[in-house]
This record gives sequence, C-alpha cells and structure tokens, in this order.
Amino acid sequence: MKTSSGNSYYSDHSYSFYTMKTITPLLLLGALFCGAATAQTTHTFNIQTAKPGAVIQPTMYGIFFEDINFGADGGLYAEMVKNRSFEFDNPWMGWNTTGNVEIMEDGPFERNPHYARLHFSGHRVKHTAIENTGFFGISVKKGETYKFSVYARVPEGQGNQAYFEVQLCDKALDINQHKLASAKITVEGNEWAKYEADLTPFATCEDGVLRIFLRNSKFRKPQDAVDGPSLDLEHVSLFPAKTWKDRPDGMRQDLAQALYDLHPGIFRFPGGCIVEGTDLADRYQWKNTVGPVENRPLNLNRWQFEFDYRFYPDYYQSYGLGFFEYFQLSEDFGAEPLPVLNCGMTCQYENDIKDEAKYHVAVEDLDPYIQDAVDLVEFANGNVTTTWGKLRAEMGHPEPFNLKFLAIGNEQWDYKDNPAYTKRLARFIEVLRKKCPEIKIIGTTGPNSEGWDFDLLQPRMKQLGVDLYDEHFYRDEEWFLTHGLRYDSYDRKGPKVFAGEYACHGKGKYADGKEKKCNHFETSLYEAAFLTGIERNADIVHMATYAPLFAHVKGWQWRPDLIWFDNYRSFRSISYYVQQLYSHYKGTRVLPLTMADKPVAGQEGQDGLFASAVVDETAGSVIVKVANVSESPASIHLNLLNKKKAAKFASAEVITLHSDNLDAENSLDHPEAVVPVKAAFDAASRDITIGAKTFQVYIFKY
Ligand code: AHR
Repeated sequence: MKTSSGNSYYSDHSYSFYTMKTITPLLLLGALFCGAATAQTTHTFNIQTAKPGAVIQPTMYGIFFEDINFGADGGLYAEMVKNRSFEFDNPWMGWNTTGNVEIMEDGPFERNPHYARLHFSGHRVKHTAIENTGFFGISVKKGETYKFSVYARVPEGQGNQAYFEVQLCDKALDINQHKLASAKITVEGNEWAKYEADLTPFATCEDGVLRIFLRNSKFRKPQDAVDGPSLDLEHVSLFPAKTWKDRPDGMRQDLAQALYDLHPGIFRFPGGCIVEGTDLADRYQWKNTVGPVENRPLNLNRWQFEFDYRFYPDYYQSYGLGFFEYFQLSEDFGAEPLPVLNCGMTCQYENDIKDEAKYHVAVEDLDPYIQDAVDLVEFANGNVTTTWGKLRAEMGHPEPFNLKFLAIGNEQWDYKDNPAYTKRLARFIEVLRKKCPEIKIIGTTGPNSEGWDFDLLQPRMKQLGVDLYDEHFYRDEEWFLTHGLRYDSYDRKGPKVFAGEYACHGKGKYADGKEKKCNHFETSLYEAAFLTGIERNADIVHMATYAPLFAHVKGWQWRPDLIWFDNYRSFRSISYYVQQLYSHYKGTRVLPLTMADKPVAGQEGQDGLFASAVVDETAGSVIVKVANVSESPASIHLNLLNKKKAAKFASAEVITLHSDNLDAENSLDHPEAVVPVKAAFDAASRDITIGAKTFQVYIFKY
C-alpha cells in the first residue's frame, strides 16, 4: 500500500515504466553477484540497537556550491541581465546595440568603471537602443513582476533631463508585438542616481530581451527627435520580484528551496577549481565579493574555457552571490558554513609546478593570503567594532555567523620532490592555530581518492594536524560498488574525513552511442549503496557533499549534477533524492549492522547488498538503509538486538527508490520520473523483501 507522506518532495506516483531494455550489469562485477540471491534465501542483518556506536555529526550530509554550469550567475543568483556593468572583456558581450552608443570608463563604481553612453543618432529614423539577451534569453512569466533598476545620469553639458524607455520583449518570430511590458523613465541631473521600475509582462516568454530605448522629452519616437540629451547607464539590472525569502535582488526561489529541502548540515563554498584560478589574478578573493554589489569587481570564470568542446566565452563571475550571501544562505539552511580559500597556488592541472615562482606564491610571500583567512574569520565571527565585523553589520548581519570550519586549498597536491601544497598549508596552520583557535582547519588529499598523490598526502594531513581533510572521488560504477569498505580501515587516530566532492560517473554508452554520464537511476543507486559505508563509518567521516550541485541545461560544463534548471524550471536528479534520504534520515548515532559478522558492503557472498543502520534519538526511530544492486530480489531478516525496545515500535514505514529502467532520469519535462515512494510497514515485522536494483529506507518509530 502506498501512502501519501505529507512531505512535498515525496510522491506516491507509480514508478515510471520504460520500454527500453534493462542493461546487463557490469561484467567486472559478475563475480560479486555470482551467487545472486533468490527470493528464498534469507539474509540476516544483526543490528545492535542496544549498543549505539559513533555519533553522527550534524554536518554529515551537506552541499557543495561552485559557480560552474552557470550555477551562480545565470542560476541561483536571480539577476537576469548578463554583463550588467559592461565589465566583460568585450564590454558589449551580452548586449546588442543600435544607433549611437559608446562605452565609457570613468563610472561611479571604482572597481567596475565601465558604463554605456547613449546618444541620439542624428537621424530621425534611427533609434538608439541597447538590448540585453540575458543568460540563454531573458525568460519571464505572465503576470509576474520583475524589478528593473539602473544607475543613470545626464552627461555634463547635456542639460538636466534625459529620457528612456525600458521594455521587456519577446523575440518570438510569430508574434506581432514584441513588447510585453515597459516603463518610461526621466533621468534628472548630472549626478548618478538609481532608477527603478516594476515590469509585469502580459505574456510568458522564454527567449526574451531587455531593451532600453533613448527617448526625447515627450517619450516620442526618434522620428520626432533628431537630437536630444544623451544618457549614461550603469549596472543595468532585472530581478524577479519573488526571490528566496523575498530578499530584494536575491536568490532564485525554486533553486534555493531545493537546497533547503535537502536539510544540509554543511555548506561548502565557493569552489572547487574557481578558488584556485588559472592565474593568481583570477583566483577567488572573498574580499572582492562583499560590500555593495555594484562595486564588487567582475572576475573571470575558469569554466568559460576549461573544455573547448563546451566553450562559454560569456561566463564571468559578478559576485552578486558573494561571501555574505553564502553565509546568509548557510544560516537559512541551518548548515555550517565551510569556506574554501586559496592557499597561494593556482590550479595545478593548468600550471606546471616546474614554474613554481611564476604560477604560485612563494612560501615567504604568503602573508596576504593568510591574512585573508584571518580576516574572513573576523568577517564571519568578529565583533561589530572590528574592521570586518563592522562590514558584516553594515551588510545587515550584526550577529556573528559562527564560522567553525575553514578549508585551505581545493584540489592541491604535493610532488615526490616538492611538498608544494603542504609547505604552504603548514604556514596557514601555524598562524590560524594562534589567531583563530576556534576554527577547525580542513586540508585536502587532492583530486584523487587513491594513488601516489593520495598516498603522499594522507599521512601528511595527520602530521600537520589538520582537523579534517577533503577527499574527492568522481568514479565509475565499478569503483562505487567495490569501495563499500573504503572507510572501515581508516586510521581512527588521524584527522576526520570530509568527502567533499563525489559522484558516480556512468561509464557506459546509450544505444545511440551517446555517453551515459548523467544522472540516471543506476549511478544514483550505486551512490546510495556506497553511502552506507560513509554512514557506518560516521566516527571518521564527518561530512560528505555530492558535486557539482547545479547545472543550467543550456550551459553546463560538467555532469552529472545534483539539480538541473532552465530559466523557469528546475528538477531534482535521482541522486538528489538519494542525498535527501540520507540527510533526512541521518539519525544521531550509528547502530552496528553485520551479516555473518561482516559489514554489509557488497562483499563476496553478500549478494549485492549494502546496508547501514542508525538510531535517531531525537525523533525516536531506528532507521535501516538497504541497497540491493543485484538483479534479484532479496529477503532479509532484520535481527534488532534489543527485543525490549524493538517491541515498542509504534509504527514503521518504508521509503523505496527504484526504477525498472536503470537508464531512467528525471528531466525538466518529467521532473518526478523517479522519486522516493513512501509506504506504511508493519511495525512488528522484521522480515523485508527488497526488489532487485532498489534502495530502501526502513523507519521504525518508537
Ligand atoms: O566539481 C567540479 C570540479 O571537480 C571542481 O571544481 C574541482 O574541485 C573538481 O576537479
């Protein structure tokens, strides 16, 4: 029987059925499942309900945000105008122009000096106008309000008033009237001032533009005005009126909601590779991302050119989503903020270490970088009388953000003959321990979860005494299914682990030859299976975040990703629901779970089963997670080794994530093709049957 859960993210929709063939499991894994279970074989899980083990950290499941795939500009940050300050290397990128326009560079915002000057064309039929094409179009919905704003002035010597009309337009070929909404604005005086207008389109439009026409005093068309005052425009902006928490010029509602719905315990930002920079000049510098948005200097986004087969020369970082906003979102989500700072090294993939002096900061010159870290702690936690605490207060948050964690470096590594990363990290640690003793420091073991570089770095993390280190693993199906015991053998006396970037990348190809490297059910199932090992080892793994988080369907550089969107809509991948199930049912302490005295981790003879159990002492529940990656259903007896407490279970339910089609994906048109389904379960029963290729969460409430 299916029940409606009352939770909006669950659905009691039927599973989706597809006509495509189920793919054969990887040959490599054949051995693992050669004794595939029949429904008759009963597997007994011994669960130590009376002996709870490690505490599960509130930070255990979280989110990692990077401005990749147009995740920030063009994504979560709801600004709809691209290149709003005319600061791109080509200042007209994102704009079409007609008539007489020029770019000036002595604007009111010191760190964004460019602006547009519009003159009359001198001919009565030639308009002067500029038109912004947005991020993959400006998309508006009928009846919704959009907030237009701009800084404007009349240039010296042009009188005291200038005039313009702003329009939201549809570019569709089959319509007569492009204009969906408009406002006429009179600009007064030669000083810069902000002008605003609400625009409410009468029709929905996906591929629209924002147009600004220079007008004369009566707002007549140029036919009546060969000449008139010129106009200066800077920081041209358009936001939906409805944003996350109704914050003006804030975050996109649906995308922020999707993050909130994960109930993340940790929020890692702002990257990822963008922290490092291709050159030191374009590394992520948090101080450039705070204060008034108009004066946050534009930065390159390295994802514009990383892959020439997915090339986005119009990808820059406006920093409208900056460190203040990241901290604020962490607070909104109830997640601990975890900033990642540059350690004085550019991207090592892109810059040869042999040119160390050219691409990286010398150890003796690291002081400004270390000071940035110390100042960040002051920005987050300092008293409002301190320099950076004062800025936080001015930005609207006098209370501290209670920063507890700081990561130094993203994917850095040492070389056999040069401890390139750790010699720099050591300097940060030395200063931060003295000046910011409350901060837990997170190092990194680089881009690889095994191999010579990992083997070099992992012991060094212990030697350096970091509190946690960040591991990354984008791996294929086989890896995920054969690493269920990864953390069982970790050194319990070393630093804790932050699995900061991971995802199962499908290796196969679809029938049409296309690469199967996206969010299909099979890879999500294997992530669910692998995560039982993270949960079982909660004493050592304190944080885990899937990566990357967001992707615009028209602008991605990397996939799979957790949440996809276009300008209107978004959908949550199947991997998202795996994350959500772990996060919502993370429990407070691990309950040891074994089958024939072994952890259930897809081991030989375990018939493709992975399992873990926790108790939630706050909610009052025992939670068992089981993934069956085999092709046969499995019968399992849950031997809850605390009969007294078990007898008290008041109710039970089971949440199932399954598709008959391993290739099934959620999409914009079918956002809930595969979602968890909740059903009641007999609280007295200890016998379960889990279908082939299925993930289930059993919740026994006491
Ligand atoms: O998540 C995408 C990229 O993967 C990150 O920027 C980087 O840290 C890793 O290589």
